[in-house]
Amino acid sequence: MDVHGQQKAQEALDVEIKSFFDSAPPLRNIENVSEDLKKFIEMNSSGTRSARKVVCVTSGGTTVPLEQRCVRYIDNFSSGHRGAASTEYFLKAGYLVIFLYRKGTCQPYCSLLPDYPFLECFEFTHESGIQVRQPYSEAVKWAISEHHAAVADGTLLKLPFTTIFEYLQILHMVATSLRSLGPNALFYLAAAVSDFYVPWESMAEHKIQSGSGPLDMRLVQVPKMLSVLRSEWAPTAYCISFKLETDVKILLEKANAALKKYKMHMVIANELLTRKEEVTLVTDNENIHVRRDPKQVGDEVEKHIIEHIVEKHSTYVDNLDQKVSRD
Ligand code: PMT
Repeated sequence: MDVHGQQKAQEALDVEIKSFFDSAPPLRNIENVSEDLKKFIEMNSSGTRSARKVVCVTSGGTTVPLEQRCVRYIDNFSSGHRGAASTEYFLKAGYLVIFLYRKGTCQPYCSLLPDYPFLECFEFTHESGIQVRQPYSEAVKWAISEHHAAVADGTLLKLPFTTIFEYLQILHMVATSLRSLGPNALFYLAAAVSDFYVPWESMAEHKIQSGSGPLDMRLVQVPKMLSVLRSEWAPTAYCISFKLETDVKILLEKANAALKKYKMHMVIANELLTRKEEVTLVTDNENIHVRRDPKQVGDEVEKHIIEHIVEKHSTYVDNLDQKVSRD
């Protein structure tokens, strides 16, 4: 595309983005989100903490409501395991983490707990009240202590979302709040984000009635926010997006295209069925194939992904620092 074409495409994207945000219902808890973010950043920007790196991990799928008083919605597949496990490894590596997650999906430190922890992990007896049942005692102790330590210590901030409107508005707030951290900020965009949505003003207010025959509904494309995240919201942050495909033959080609098109620093390519076993980290100059070791009990692919990212992000920060001191 020539320069004129690129300019036109950028203008069209700007219009789509403006129209998305203008038409989005305002965040209900915007003051709380903004206050939590402010506190988190203030708490971590003094003393030794000021040099620490901060990652925003997005996790889980966004929904697209079909009615304003929502009864039905379109969902995007993601259990949230990738984001939750990655959060644990980022915290272990010394990062401060903003965990932007879909309500009801996997949480950090909870992978060893059953699906209904309250019902399955605990028992109540009149003699001793609530107790942890075996064999969950160690898992519950670990989950509670790690989670409480991270939240109480101010190293983990959890921000929930459900709809695509909430997700993108909060991501925007996080990105602009982290701008002052420059290259120390990292975005790890593992959430499965809707590609199509119903604009708020053209959405039915009440429950759509099923008696009127087939449903005819027009969905508008959700503007890809990756390029605007890179160019405007957080221009010096290190940005990693994911590419999910079900056809492995097109996976790397699509990941490479996303890397170039959205100017990502890294795209993590994963195939739906093997996503917990292996991924490829695609960067400008190399593809790194990462696998979990099935012979090692409890080994997770996220551990290896985060090890590579920590190294790449460090190099990125050092290079930018050197460039600034040369200029
Ligand atoms: O949660 P798990 O069950 O553990 O599964 C993890 C995962 C498979 C969901 C995760 O590893 C993953 O691949 N997440 C991204 C899924 C996705 O939305 O892929 P995509 O190819 O549709 O989008 C690529 C990138 O563009 C994503 O980083 C997304 O944040 C971004 N995007 C997508 C749509 C949109 N309108 N705007 C965006 O910015």
